[in-house]
Amino acid sequence: MAESRGQWGSRLGFILAAAGSAIGLGNIWKFPYITGENGGGLFVLIYLVCIALVGLPIMMAEIMIGRAAQKSPVGAFRALSRPGSPWALAGGLGVVTAFVILSYYSVVAGWAMHYTWLSLTDTFAGRTPDEIGAIFGAVYGSEEINALWHLIFMGATISIVIAGIRGGIELWSRILMPALFLILLILFVYAMQSEGFGQAVEFVFAPHAGDLTAAGVLEALGHSFFTLSLGMGAMITYGSYLQRDEDLVTTSVTVSVLDTAVALLACLVLFPIIFSADLEPAAGPGLVFRSIPIALSQMPGGMVLAPLFFLLLTFAALTSAISLLEVAASYFIDERGWSRTKATLATGGLITLLGLPSAMSGGSRMFGQGVTDLTAPLLKLLGRDAGMNWFDFFDYLASNWMLPIGGMLIALFVAWRVGDAAREQAFTAGTRFGRIYWTWVFLLRFIVPVGVFAVFLHAIGVI
Ligand code: PFF
Repeated sequence: MAESRGQWGSRLGFILAAAGSAIGLGNIWKFPYITGENGGGLFVLIYLVCIALVGLPIMMAEIMIGRAAQKSPVGAFRALSRPGSPWALAGGLGVVTAFVILSYYSVVAGWAMHYTWLSLTDTFAGRTPDEIGAIFGAVYGSEEINALWHLIFMGATISIVIAGIRGGIELWSRILMPALFLILLILFVYAMQSEGFGQAVEFVFAPHAGDLTAAGVLEALGHSFFTLSLGMGAMITYGSYLQRDEDLVTTSVTVSVLDTAVALLACLVLFPIIFSADLEPAAGPGLVFRSIPIALSQMPGGMVLAPLFFLLLTFAALTSAISLLEVAASYFIDERGWSRTKATLATGGLITLLGLPSAMSGGSRMFGQGVTDLTAPLLKLLGRDAGMNWFDFFDYLASNWMLPIGGMLIALFVAWRVGDAAREQAFTAGTRFGRIYWTWVFLLRFIVPVGVFAVFLHAIGVI
């Protein structure tokens, strides 16, 4: 049975695939810009605490559920609860979340691909910073460019997932992840030699009291879900292709440490380059797409590194996107008995359609201003003062609500619903670190729910 669903070829294959899921746009695009906006050091420290106390325990819980049930989220919740129990809905929420996230994630990945192309064709060389900055605005506002790259990126994601666990996801993770580490290392060596390196290390690691707000703390917590791919069953799904005696603790720690290391390294690549060119670290979502080409165009050898940087971003996005699509496809494979090809084409096709409005949010009146007007009353209720276009609304919905709700449900399920004996057996099977079992249960029972509840209160504007 397990064999026919597919299994990882080796433990390293699983670790690379799971790290591939975790390491994505969240690490290289989002983490640096939210670090920049929140003043650096102290934010980074809080983020590390959130990863250790909230992210890591949920990662272990997810992999444990998948590994024990050998099923993707809906089937896994069903298998581990009583017949007819509503917990399967928590798995269903994960499947819906996968649709939502991948639909807009693919658009940002499209920018990365477009920027790889632009830098390969020397578009940035010899232009003024204003001109380079304006390119991002033009890309964002072009329905054609966004839709085209979205289709190409989804096509690549679908092709990999169709090829299966070992022949698709694991194979490509084994190729793309080492390439990603190598590129990051090359960029890091370059950044280390730039003038701004010392200032960047100071910015990222020295805690400056007073720079951080309560909202920043909650942003760090919310981001720890997104960056580790938690709260929607991606790790349940990947865990379900593991053998039952694989070491849960070591693999979860390895994946979390790799993810964190890449996020920090990304900062130590970006900020030195940004500081060397006298640019601002708090540039928001455009940080990577505006500041990096501007800065590199002024630095020696910079134009050779620009395509490498955007290729890094593309690879990171691709290995995350395949995990998102796998969650959606595996539901139809496991629960509806569809073939992998049919399930992947159907879910991938639907996600591609769902992403088109995101791809057009910057250029079309309907999905831009139209949806902004439409969402304004709802968002007012949630404590926001303006509406959002389709793209921003999907990102907001997924990162602020769907992932934290999903993560909370997974924690509550494992900590309070699964029987003590079964949970302890499932956790300790195959690991030398069984002694941390009660610490883990404590974190899941109390710390995670309180933390996530705080995120909700923040989302509705109470704190
Ligand atoms: N972890 C990915 C990132 O940091 O970009 C995003 C992601 C992938 C979130 C897969 C959720 C997921 F299931």
